[in-house]
Amino acid sequence: MAIHTDKISVETSETSKINTVDFSNLDFGRVFTDHMFVCDYEDGKWQNPKIMPYQAMTFEPSARVFHYGQAVFEGMKAYKDDDGKVFLFRPKQNFERINKSSGRLAMPAFPEDYFFEGLETLLKLDNDWIKPGVGNSLYLRPFVIATEPAISASPASMYRFMIICSPAKSYYNSAVRVLIADHYSRSANGGVGAAKAAGNYAAQFYPTSLAQKKGFQQVVWTDADTHTLLEEAGTMNVFFRVNDKLITAPTSDRILDGVTRKSIIQLAEDLGITCEVRPVTVAEIKEAAKDGSLKEIFGAGTAAVISPISAFEHQDELFEISSVDAEDSYAKLFKQTLLNIQHNLSEDKHGWRYEVK
Ligand code: COI
Repeated sequence: MAIHTDKISVETSETSKINTVDFSNLDFGRVFTDHMFVCDYEDGKWQNPKIMPYQAMTFEPSARVFHYGQAVFEGMKAYKDDDGKVFLFRPKQNFERINKSSGRLAMPAFPEDYFFEGLETLLKLDNDWIKPGVGNSLYLRPFVIATEPAISASPASMYRFMIICSPAKSYYNSAVRVLIADHYSRSANGGVGAAKAAGNYAAQFYPTSLAQKKGFQQVVWTDADTHTLLEEAGTMNVFFRVNDKLITAPTSDRILDGVTRKSIIQLAEDLGITCEVRPVTVAEIKEAAKDGSLKEIFGAGTAAVISPISAFEHQDELFEISSVDAEDSYAKLFKQTLLNIQHNLSEDKHGWRYEVK
């Protein structure tokens, strides 16, 4: 198949793997579509972008990404409605954020026209991988790595920008139990916490594995200085419902400026739900759990969408949130409202949907 674009050269795959995939039984992020987008940075500029069959790549062992972790990424999703129209959700936010993340890691910004043309061409080629229906999506993973073969500790002069795509259902299959951090930290003032830097995720794996041994799927990170402020849950931003009010931490250079997070803050305003964006203390949430005013905690992120949190532990005190499954939960309300917008099932008054034509 030939796809014509002004900027991108396209080599299509001769065969498709799609018939080997069980779309009703997908483990997050393990199956990839037939094509990928690739663009190299060399000689001070981004070279000709390409789409090619999804395949393994070779890099020199000295490629800087392996030594210094110069790598950033994004998470986005494409949705299909029942008429076969394909939509992205606020993709400009992801475009801007990947360049902000790159800037923080001393990596070059990627051009907007390549980003959008690359994404859209890829989605047209791999259109059959986007299944209609709420709950189905194609997870898109743009990322940038430092490819220059040189191991002095300094920024690379060669990079590769890529987009790979993976059909997805839910990230967490049920409500999540979380441990509140009181020793390890995810980020620090002036650090890279606000960047979607690969190393931010690797740094969480060890403390998260300790939490998993205790029966918790995620850690809710607290501020590194005092461990008294609730910040984010690694793969998600976090919201607390106390009585009928929502509370979430403000973004900072320690917290990722989540697209789902900012959409919920806007939807809360639209729905007349008070949402306070302010520092949230561990003490107030424990107090609210004790006096019964803590109704819900939920995480929000592209992969996880909205994920209810059914229990949290802090310094050996365990709190179960019994109202997690309530019919009138905010988690359910925001999830449904967001999914309806994303799947073209409801009005999009903020212009968040982006149709791939
Ligand atoms: C996303 O929600 O897209 C994320 O980045 C989470 C990911 C680490 C699975």
